[in-house]
Amino acid sequence: MNILFYTAGDNGAGWVEAIARALPHARISVWPQRGASVDYALVWKPPPALIAAMSGARAVFNLGAGVDAIAESSAWPAGVSLVRLEDAGMAEQMAEYVTYAVLRRYREFAAYEVAQAAAVWNARPGLDKRTFGVGFLGIGVLGTHVAHALLPFGFPLACWSRTTKDIPGVSSFTADRLELFLASCRILVCMLPLTRATRGLLSRDTLAQLPHGAYVVNVARGALIVENDLLALIDSGHLAGAMLDVFENEPLPAVHAFWHHPGITLTPHICAVTSIAQSVEQIAAKISRVEAGLAISGVVDSGHAYL
Ligand code: NAP
Ligand code: GLV
Repeated sequence: MNILFYTAGDNGAGWVEAIARALPHARISVWPQRGASVDYALVWKPPPALIAAMSGARAVFNLGAGVDAIAESSAWPAGVSLVRLEDAGMAEQMAEYVTYAVLRRYREFAAYEVAQAAAVWNARPGLDKRTFGVGFLGIGVLGTHVAHALLPFGFPLACWSRTTKDIPGVSSFTADRLELFLASCRILVCMLPLTRATRGLLSRDTLAQLPHGAYVVNVARGALIVENDLLALIDSGHLAGAMLDVFENEPLPAVHAFWHHPGITLTPHICAVTSIAQSVEQIAAKISRVEAGLAISGVVDSGHAYL
């Protein structure tokens, strides 16, 4: 079996070692090297020439949950399945991050950090949890895990997705009810894929539909939000602020207004880091199924404009 590997990251050697351990009979080429044919490709942010070279592969495995880097870069070879990572250790990390962001905002820890810096002893009255709705924009593999992690805290929870969800304790809104959903969110947590349908979804118009004092958490992709519109709504006082892990341009340029804005807390795309061991285990199991003629999950649905 011929495997073609490429990552735009700096941890390629670790991936190749893990792939060789999990699939000892495979011949692994690292792009731009390649064998006569490619049975499977494992890639992260491949260049356009590599995408063209994948025609004829039985499946291409994306080394992340989001496939937007591939969807945007070039025409996809017809008939080749694109398979994304499903959880592979990321759901637990995302639940940790979002739980922290929600509790930090609800318990006003940022305000206490500012008070401590000024040596001010000021006990705040506390917020009413019943009015503190937390909304999940996108509730797929990762969002569902995050919702379950937040359930025990007792916030009113809601989600927005293409299809209706039946998650006990989480009110479900479908795409045509975005305005109603946003109006219920004191904290909006974005966990959508970046697609043609979702790019720029959070703009001045939609962010203004959040209640006064709402807070935005984005752990999905930066381009889901129009960054200047977010800043304008925080500066106008309509939004309380945002915790952001992802940005339209990464690394976030040093001159970007987000870095020093008092309403913004940011991290460098570390919310849910890909685990090489768990990802390779998942991919190797899927390759075994494909080889046995069995169906696999995680195949990206091009009918939903992911590509
Ligand atoms: P997923 O399982 O595909 O879930 C996506 C969710 O978004 C689903 O609930 C889907 O609705 C909904 N959705 C998609 N398009 C929509 C649309 N046009 N309108 C309304 N709802 C829509 O994806 P996942 O595995 O949870 O991952 C989500 C995203 O997280 C990834 O795409 C990636 O960008 C991001 N991510 C970030 C990090 C990080 O470190 N910051 C790490 C991993 C992943 P249905 O359920 O109805 O289909
Ligand atoms: C990371 O952002 C991923 O999509 O896996």
